[in-house]
Amino acid sequence: MEYLALRPLLSDFVMSMPRGAAIIYPKDAAQILAQADIFPGARVIEAGVGSGALSLWLLRAIGPSGTLTSFERREEFADVAAGNVVGFLGTEPANWRIVTGDLVEELPAVAEPGTVDRVVLDMLAPWECIDVAADALTPGGVLLCYIATVTQLSRVAEAIRESGAFTDPDSSETLVRTWHVEGLAVRPDHRMIGHTGFLLTARRLAPGAILPQVKRRASKTEYGDEDVELWTPGALGERGSASAKTLRRKVRAAQAGAAASLARGGEGTPATPDSPPPSEDRTGAGSAFGADADQ
Ligand SMILES: C[S@@+](CC[C@H](N)C(=O)[O-])C[C@H]1O[C@@H](n2cnc3c(N)ncnc32)[C@H](O)[C@@H]1O
Repeated sequence: MEYLALRPLLSDFVMSMPRGAAIIYPKDAAQILAQADIFPGARVIEAGVGSGALSLWLLRAIGPSGTLTSFERREEFADVAAGNVVGFLGTEPANWRIVTGDLVEELPAVAEPGTVDRVVLDMLAPWECIDVAADALTPGGVLLCYIATVTQLSRVAEAIRESGAFTDPDSSETLVRTWHVEGLAVRPDHRMIGHTGFLLTARRLAPGAILPQVKRRASKTEYGDEDVELWTPGALGERGSASAKTLRRKVRAAQAGAAASLARGGEGTPATPDSPPPSEDRTGAGSAFGADADQ
Protein backbone atom coordinates (compact mmCIF):
# COMPACT_ATOMS: atom_id res chain seq x y z
CA MET A 1 0.00 0.00 0.00
CA GLU A 2 1.36 3.43 -0.93
CA TYR A 3 0.36 6.69 0.70
CA LEU A 4 0.73 10.34 -0.14
CA ALA A 5 1.13 12.48 2.97
CA LEU A 6 0.36 16.20 2.97
CA ARG A 7 0.14 18.65 5.82
CA PRO A 8 -3.53 19.23 6.61
CA LEU A 9 -5.21 22.42 5.50
CA LEU A 10 -7.30 24.11 8.16
CA SER A 11 -10.42 22.71 6.48
CA ASP A 12 -8.94 19.18 6.72
CA PHE A 13 -7.98 19.69 10.35
CA VAL A 14 -11.34 20.92 11.59
CA MET A 15 -13.17 18.05 9.91
CA SER A 16 -11.03 15.41 11.65
CA MET A 17 -10.07 16.98 14.99
CA PRO A 18 -11.55 15.70 18.26
CA ARG A 19 -15.08 16.99 18.75
CA GLY A 20 -17.22 17.51 21.78
CA ALA A 21 -19.75 19.87 20.24
CA ALA A 22 -20.79 19.93 16.60
CA ILE A 23 -18.50 22.17 14.59
CA ILE A 24 -19.11 24.86 12.02
CA TYR A 25 -18.22 23.38 8.65
CA PRO A 26 -15.67 25.11 6.40
CA LYS A 27 -18.36 26.20 3.90
CA ASP A 28 -20.15 28.11 6.66
CA ALA A 29 -16.95 29.38 8.28
CA ALA A 30 -15.95 30.95 4.95
CA GLN A 31 -19.30 32.72 4.72
CA ILE A 32 -19.10 33.81 8.35
CA LEU A 33 -15.74 35.48 7.72
CA ALA A 34 -17.21 37.28 4.70
CA GLN A 35 -20.64 38.19 6.05
CA ALA A 36 -19.41 39.24 9.49
CA ASP A 37 -16.59 41.13 7.74
CA ILE A 38 -13.88 39.70 9.98
CA PHE A 39 -10.75 41.76 9.27
CA PRO A 40 -7.12 41.84 10.42
CA GLY A 41 -6.98 43.66 13.72
CA ALA A 42 -10.67 43.15 14.56
CA ARG A 43 -11.80 42.80 18.18
CA VAL A 44 -14.06 39.75 18.03
CA ILE A 45 -16.31 38.03 20.57
CA GLU A 46 -17.42 34.45 19.94
CA ALA A 47 -19.84 32.19 21.84
CA GLY A 48 -19.96 29.26 22.34
CA VAL A 49 -16.53 28.03 21.53
CA GLY A 50 -17.69 24.39 21.20
CA SER A 51 -14.86 22.37 19.64
CA GLY A 52 -12.91 25.45 18.53
CA ALA A 53 -13.41 25.05 14.78
CA LEU A 54 -14.71 28.56 14.20
CA SER A 55 -12.14 29.95 16.66
CA LEU A 56 -9.39 28.71 14.34
CA TRP A 57 -10.91 30.45 11.32
CA LEU A 58 -11.49 33.65 13.29
CA LEU A 59 -7.92 33.67 14.65
CA ARG A 60 -6.56 33.27 11.15
CA ALA A 61 -8.70 36.13 9.81
CA ILE A 62 -8.00 38.66 12.60
CA GLY A 63 -4.23 38.04 12.46
CA PRO A 64 -1.85 38.84 15.30
CA SER A 65 -3.11 42.42 15.70
CA GLY A 66 -6.71 41.33 16.35
CA THR A 67 -8.17 39.84 19.51
CA LEU A 68 -10.58 36.94 19.92
CA THR A 69 -12.41 36.31 23.17
CA SER A 70 -14.36 33.05 23.10
CA PHE A 71 -17.04 32.29 25.69
CA GLU A 72 -18.06 28.74 26.55
CA ARG A 73 -20.30 27.75 29.42
CA ARG A 74 -19.05 24.15 29.61
CA GLU A 75 -15.52 23.88 30.86
CA GLU A 76 -14.90 20.49 29.25
CA PHE A 77 -15.90 21.90 25.85
CA ALA A 78 -13.46 24.75 26.37
CA ASP A 79 -10.77 22.14 27.09
CA VAL A 80 -11.41 20.37 23.79
CA ALA A 81 -11.35 23.70 21.94
CA ALA A 82 -8.12 24.79 23.60
CA GLY A 83 -6.49 21.45 22.71
CA ASN A 84 -7.64 21.72 19.11
CA VAL A 85 -6.45 25.30 18.66
CA VAL A 86 -3.00 24.56 20.08
CA GLY A 87 -2.98 21.28 18.15
CA PHE A 88 -3.31 23.15 14.89
CA LEU A 89 -1.28 26.28 15.59
CA GLY A 90 1.45 24.64 17.65
CA THR A 91 1.30 27.46 20.17
CA GLU A 92 -1.15 29.18 22.49
CA PRO A 93 -2.15 32.31 20.58
CA ALA A 94 -1.39 35.40 22.67
CA ASN A 95 -4.43 37.18 21.26
CA TRP A 96 -6.94 34.47 22.18
CA ARG A 97 -8.70 34.09 25.48
CA ILE A 98 -11.35 31.57 26.50
CA VAL A 99 -13.78 32.70 29.16
CA THR A 100 -15.64 29.85 30.84
CA GLY A 101 -19.20 30.89 31.62
CA ASP A 102 -22.40 32.10 30.07
CA LEU A 103 -21.98 34.96 27.61
CA VAL A 104 -24.88 36.88 29.13
CA GLU A 105 -23.25 36.87 32.56
CA GLU A 106 -19.61 37.20 31.56
CA LEU A 107 -19.49 39.55 28.57
CA PRO A 108 -20.30 42.79 30.43
CA ALA A 109 -17.35 42.18 32.77
CA VAL A 110 -14.97 41.42 29.88
CA ALA A 111 -15.84 44.07 27.27
CA GLU A 112 -16.48 47.77 27.91
CA PRO A 113 -19.61 49.03 26.12
CA GLY A 114 -18.99 49.88 22.47
CA THR A 115 -15.52 48.32 22.28
CA VAL A 116 -16.15 45.22 20.17
CA ASP A 117 -16.13 45.13 16.35
CA ARG A 118 -17.81 41.78 15.76
CA VAL A 119 -19.92 39.32 17.78
CA VAL A 120 -20.40 35.79 16.41
CA LEU A 121 -22.94 33.52 18.14
CA ASP A 122 -23.21 29.77 17.56
CA MET A 123 -25.51 28.46 20.26
CA LEU A 124 -28.97 27.11 20.90
CA ALA A 125 -30.59 30.32 22.15
CA PRO A 126 -28.81 33.37 20.64
CA TRP A 127 -31.86 35.54 21.33
CA GLU A 128 -30.88 35.48 25.02
CA CYS A 129 -27.63 37.27 24.13
CA ILE A 130 -28.88 40.11 21.92
CA ASP A 131 -28.81 42.77 24.63
CA VAL A 132 -25.27 42.04 25.86
CA ALA A 133 -24.04 41.81 22.28
CA ALA A 134 -25.62 45.18 21.51
CA ASP A 135 -23.96 46.76 24.55
CA ALA A 136 -20.54 45.43 23.63
CA LEU A 137 -20.64 46.30 19.92
CA THR A 138 -19.34 49.53 18.52
CA PRO A 139 -21.79 51.47 16.28
CA GLY A 140 -21.72 49.84 12.85
CA GLY A 141 -20.32 46.62 14.35
CA VAL A 142 -21.64 43.31 13.07
CA LEU A 143 -23.64 40.68 14.94
CA LEU A 144 -23.69 37.29 13.24
CA CYS A 145 -25.72 34.31 14.42
CA TYR A 146 -25.29 30.78 13.12
CA ILE A 147 -28.47 28.83 13.79
CA ALA A 148 -29.54 25.32 12.90
CA THR A 149 -33.31 25.48 12.58
CA VAL A 150 -35.97 27.69 11.05
CA THR A 151 -37.71 28.17 14.39
CA GLN A 152 -34.48 29.48 15.93
CA LEU A 153 -33.92 31.72 12.92
CA SER A 154 -37.37 33.24 13.32
CA ARG A 155 -36.99 33.78 17.03
CA VAL A 156 -33.58 35.43 16.87
CA ALA A 157 -34.63 37.67 13.97
CA GLU A 158 -37.65 38.89 15.94
CA ALA A 159 -35.54 39.44 19.07
CA ILE A 160 -33.09 41.55 17.06
CA ARG A 161 -35.93 43.65 15.63
CA GLU A 162 -37.50 43.97 19.07
CA SER A 163 -34.24 45.27 20.57
CA GLY A 164 -34.27 48.32 18.29
CA ALA A 165 -30.47 48.29 18.45
CA PHE A 166 -29.71 46.78 15.04
CA THR A 167 -30.44 47.11 11.35
CA ASP A 168 -33.00 44.72 9.94
CA PRO A 169 -31.32 41.29 9.87
CA ASP A 170 -30.23 39.50 6.69
CA SER A 171 -30.54 35.72 6.57
CA SER A 172 -29.01 33.12 4.28
CA GLU A 173 -27.86 29.55 3.99
CA THR A 174 -24.97 28.18 1.98
CA LEU A 175 -25.23 25.07 -0.13
CA VAL A 176 -22.04 23.72 -1.68
CA ARG A 177 -22.44 21.13 -4.40
CA THR A 178 -19.24 19.30 -5.32
CA TRP A 179 -18.75 17.96 -8.84
CA HIS A 180 -17.39 14.78 -10.32
CA VAL A 181 -15.07 15.80 -13.16
CA GLU A 182 -13.48 12.94 -15.04
CA GLY A 183 -13.11 12.86 -18.82
CA LEU A 184 -16.54 13.37 -20.29
CA ALA A 185 -18.23 12.32 -17.06
CA VAL A 186 -18.77 15.81 -15.67
CA ARG A 187 -21.72 16.14 -13.31
CA PRO A 188 -22.66 17.11 -9.78
CA ASP A 189 -21.74 14.50 -7.17
CA HIS A 190 -24.64 12.31 -6.15
CA ARG A 191 -24.37 13.26 -2.48
CA MET A 192 -23.97 16.57 -0.72
CA ILE A 193 -24.35 18.07 2.75
CA GLY A 194 -27.96 19.15 2.53
CA HIS A 195 -28.23 21.31 5.62
CA THR A 196 -25.95 22.66 8.30
CA GLY A 197 -27.29 26.03 9.44
CA PHE A 198 -28.49 29.52 8.64
CA LEU A 199 -26.51 32.73 8.95
CA LEU A 200 -28.11 35.90 10.16
CA THR A 201 -26.32 39.25 10.28
CA ALA A 202 -27.27 42.70 11.55
CA ARG A 203 -25.34 45.95 12.09
CA ARG A 204 -25.32 47.74 15.44
CA LEU A 205 -27.05 51.11 15.25
CA ALA A 206 -25.42 54.12 16.91
CA PRO A 207 -27.13 55.00 20.22
CA GLY A 208 -30.14 57.19 19.44
CA ALA A 209 -30.23 56.22 15.75
CA ILE A 210 -33.72 55.31 14.58
CA LEU A 211 -34.08 52.64 11.93
CA PRO A 212 -36.16 53.94 8.98
CA GLN A 213 -39.38 51.92 8.89
CA VAL A 214 -39.71 49.63 5.91
CA LYS A 215 -43.28 49.11 4.75
CA ARG A 216 -44.24 45.48 5.19
CA ARG A 217 -47.29 43.55 4.21
CA ALA A 218 -49.38 42.51 7.17
CA SER A 219 -48.18 39.10 8.32
CA LYS A 220 -48.25 36.97 11.42
CA THR A 221 -44.82 37.70 12.85
CA GLU A 222 -45.74 37.35 16.49
CA TYR A 223 -45.53 34.29 18.67
CA GLY A 224 -47.16 33.48 21.96
CA ASP A 225 -46.22 31.67 25.16
CA GLU A 226 -47.43 28.46 23.62
CA ASP A 227 -44.90 28.78 20.80
CA VAL A 228 -42.11 29.57 23.23
CA GLU A 229 -42.99 26.44 25.20
CA LEU A 230 -42.34 24.46 22.04
CA TRP A 231 -38.83 25.86 21.68
CA THR A 232 -37.23 23.39 24.04
CA PRO A 233 -33.72 22.09 23.30
CA GLY A 234 -35.23 18.74 22.34
CA ALA A 235 -37.87 20.28 20.09
CA LEU A 236 -35.24 22.42 18.39
CA GLY A 237 -33.19 19.32 17.68
CA GLU A 238 -30.29 20.15 19.97
CA ARG A 239 -27.37 18.28 18.57
CA GLY A 240 -27.13 15.15 20.74
CA SER A 241 -24.86 14.61 23.69
CA ALA A 242 -22.02 12.15 23.78
CA SER A 243 -21.44 10.16 26.97
CA ALA A 244 -19.11 11.49 29.67
CA LYS A 245 -16.66 8.69 28.88
CA THR A 246 -16.60 9.56 25.18
CA LEU A 247 -16.06 13.21 25.98
CA ARG A 248 -13.18 12.43 28.33
CA ARG A 249 -11.59 10.48 25.48
CA LYS A 250 -12.00 13.47 23.18
CA VAL A 251 -10.41 15.85 25.69
CA ARG A 252 -7.44 13.46 25.98
CA ALA A 253 -7.17 13.24 22.17
CA ALA A 254 -7.28 17.05 21.78
CA GLN A 255 -4.68 17.50 24.52
CA ALA A 256 -2.41 14.83 23.00
CA GLY A 257 -2.66 16.66 19.67
CA ALA A 258 -1.77 19.92 21.38
CA ALA A 259 1.23 18.36 23.15
CA ALA A 260 2.49 16.77 19.92
CA SER A 261 2.07 20.02 18.01
CA LEU A 262 3.80 22.04 20.73
CA ALA A 263 6.69 19.55 20.62
CA ARG A 264 6.90 19.95 16.83
CA GLY A 265 6.57 23.73 17.13
CA GLY A 266 4.20 24.12 14.20
CA GLU A 267 0.95 23.32 12.51
CA GLY A 268 0.13 19.66 12.78
CA THR A 269 -2.22 16.80 12.30
CA PRO A 270 -4.83 15.83 14.85
CA ALA A 271 -3.59 13.14 17.26
CA THR A 272 -6.60 10.94 16.63
CA PRO A 273 -8.63 11.49 13.51
CA ASP A 274 -12.10 11.39 14.87
CA SER A 275 -15.34 10.53 13.18
CA PRO A 276 -17.73 13.44 13.67
CA PRO A 277 -20.63 12.66 15.98
CA PRO A 278 -22.99 15.63 16.00
CA SER A 279 -22.96 16.65 19.64
CA GLU A 280 -23.04 19.73 21.83
CA ASP A 281 -21.69 18.23 25.02
CA ARG A 282 -18.26 17.33 26.31
CA THR A 283 -16.61 16.53 29.58
CA GLY A 284 -12.95 16.46 30.49
CA ALA A 285 -10.26 18.15 32.46
CA GLY A 286 -7.22 20.34 32.18
CA SER A 287 -7.56 23.15 29.63
CA ALA A 288 -4.48 24.53 27.95
CA PHE A 289 -5.98 27.81 29.12
CA GLY A 290 -7.49 26.39 32.27
CA ALA A 291 -5.64 28.65 34.65
CA ASP A 292 -7.30 31.85 33.44
CA ALA A 293 -10.40 30.43 31.89
CA ASP A 294 -12.80 31.94 34.42
CA GLN A 295 -12.93 35.71 33.95
C1 LIG B 1 -22.46 24.04 18.44
S1 LIG B 1 -21.40 24.48 19.68
C2 LIG B 1 -20.28 25.66 18.96
C3 LIG B 1 -19.35 25.05 17.94
C4 LIG B 1 -18.23 25.95 17.50
N1 LIG B 1 -18.72 27.13 16.84
C5 LIG B 1 -17.26 25.21 16.61
O1 LIG B 1 -17.17 25.54 15.41
O2 LIG B 1 -16.57 24.31 17.09
C6 LIG B 1 -22.39 25.49 20.74
C7 LIG B 1 -21.71 25.78 22.05
O3 LIG B 1 -22.31 26.91 22.66
C8 LIG B 1 -22.22 26.75 24.06
N2 LIG B 1 -23.19 27.72 24.60
C9 LIG B 1 -24.54 27.70 24.46
N3 LIG B 1 -25.08 28.79 25.03
C10 LIG B 1 -24.05 29.52 25.55
C11 LIG B 1 -23.96 30.75 26.26
N4 LIG B 1 -25.07 31.47 26.54
N5 LIG B 1 -22.75 31.22 26.64
C12 LIG B 1 -21.63 30.50 26.36
N6 LIG B 1 -21.65 29.33 25.68
C13 LIG B 1 -22.84 28.84 25.28
C14 LIG B 1 -22.55 25.28 24.25
O4 LIG B 1 -22.07 24.81 25.48
C15 LIG B 1 -21.82 24.67 23.04
O5 LIG B 1 -20.53 24.26 23.38
